[in-house]
Amino acid sequence: MSKSYDVVVIGAGPAGYVAAIRATQLGMSVACIDEWQNKDGTNAFGGTCLNAGCIPSKVLLESSELFHRAGNEFKKHGIKTGKVELDLEAMQKRRAGIVRQLTNGIAGLFKANKVEGLVGHGKLLAGKQVEFTPVDGEPQLLNAGSVIIATGSTPIELPFAKFDDKHIVDSWNAIEFSEVPKRLGIIGAGVIGLELGSVWSRLGSEVIIIEAMHDFLFMTDREVAAAAGKDFRKQGLDIRLGAKLTGAKAGKKGVTVEYEDAGIPKTLEVDKLVVAVGRRPFTDGLFADDAGIVLDERGFIKVDDECRTHVKGVYAVGDCVRGPMLAHKGSEEGVMVADLIAGHVAEVNYDVIPSVIYTAPEIAWVGKTEQEVKESGREYKTGSFPFAASGRAKAMEQTTGMVKIVSAVDDDEVLGVHIVGPMAGELIAEAVLAMEFAASTEDIQRTIHAHPTLAEAMHEAALAVDNKALNYPNK
Ligand code: FAD
Ligand code: NAI
Repeated sequence: MSKSYDVVVIGAGPAGYVAAIRATQLGMSVACIDEWQNKDGTNAFGGTCLNAGCIPSKVLLESSELFHRAGNEFKKHGIKTGKVELDLEAMQKRRAGIVRQLTNGIAGLFKANKVEGLVGHGKLLAGKQVEFTPVDGEPQLLNAGSVIIATGSTPIELPFAKFDDKHIVDSWNAIEFSEVPKRLGIIGAGVIGLELGSVWSRLGSEVIIIEAMHDFLFMTDREVAAAAGKDFRKQGLDIRLGAKLTGAKAGKKGVTVEYEDAGIPKTLEVDKLVVAVGRRPFTDGLFADDAGIVLDERGFIKVDDECRTHVKGVYAVGDCVRGPMLAHKGSEEGVMVADLIAGHVAEVNYDVIPSVIYTAPEIAWVGKTEQEVKESGREYKTGSFPFAASGRAKAMEQTTGMVKIVSAVDDDEVLGVHIVGPMAGELIAEAVLAMEFAASTEDIQRTIHAHPTLAEAMHEAALAVDNKALNYPNK
């Protein structure tokens, strides 16, 4: 016998579980199917974000930074520690424990909100039916008023550097290393390459990153990228730009990496190789032949601005559709779709999605880069403030970087905010809120910022846009 729900969600990552919870808050009956299996064989809700992505990587970034600072920075503060030693097993145990708490938390949230969490595989059939196959069980048919697909993404595998889960690995494996690799190779100086490269470098690896592009962090503001690149190199990350991987062979001891640097073939020996060259939408085994869903040329589920697929009543959200592969983008899409199904007006403001890279210094931005504004032809002005002039940053011994604001000349609207420096990921929230409210630079200038805080750098950068900075010489 088939069961019926107002909404069936396939995927319980940050896009799917949030959509499911919101839908029950709106009075609908909801089932949320997820097949995630951890390396120890246990199932867990939370998707890539909680199990293998955002959360475990941030836990290790925090632990490794503390380790690094204890060994290298405490002296400057007048703190004697004796020899600082690494207990990687304990560090990894803490990481796993935090992940478990949070994924169990989702199961708890499902119970509290009366979402029926179903563990197993979901497959979309024609006519808004979903075939649910429980782990070790027989397929069951679910009838849905609406279906929300939130099946996420998976690492791109290069044909000439296939994952063997031992020497040539993806980001999930690289988060769960039980030993610090002596020499760690990383393909791709993108977000994962820099975050995980930082973790293992701080814990003692020699890290070499091979990046195909000539421009470092091509998606970020050029000044921010230059400041960050300089600091990462100072920290010891060996970032080789314009270098394209051509092959990787795993042997008994490690990996021989072949790449081309300005057309010249080169080789590199490393103990482990992390391939982090982007992720692809995950839709394997998801559709019956007559399900009617259309994919684009890169495999993303085609949707409109409101996440509607080509099939009426079937929506798709998160990493499996166009747009940045970010947890908060997926969650907002999930909320929007639940609201739309309930008949409310809802939208996602795709122009104001913050991005954060959790390195040290952190990098965060929202809106357009200076280069993008220049290309758009709109007249603009900029202002920036270096953390070197911030009392709070000095107290924290973290003075690298700056806040930079790009604003329109005609109506003073804030068009983009770019930060490299301490707590950039927290500071950007003010800029996101300002831009969501279409703030002018003057609005930020007239907003009182507590002293002494890092947030004052945002205030001073806004003042600098009009040459009114008070704590740093103007242009
Ligand atoms: P996912 O989180 O991938 O969840 C999809 C779920 O659907 C999975 O549990 C999967 O098992 C399940 N599923 C798939 N197909 C089926 C099926 N047919 N039946 C049943 N279940 C199915 N983003 C940030 O915003 N901030 C960060 O700091 C950040 N750090 C990251 C670090 C790393 C190392 C990685 C890899 C990613 C990181 N991301 C970060 C990206 C973030 O993880 C993704 O954008 C986010 O998880 C996407 O959410 P989602 O719900 O669309 O998909
Ligand atoms: P990415 O797109 O950020 O970076 C991949 C890099 O690999 C690019 O710079 C690309 O030029 C390079 N590359 C591609 N092919 C190559 C080759 N053959 N040789 C050398 N270099 C090559 O992708 P990444 O780092 O894998 O992350 C995947 C997604 O996960 C990102 O889109 C990001 O949105 C998300 N993520 C977000 C985080 C955050 O918000 N802090 C953290 C980690 C991941």
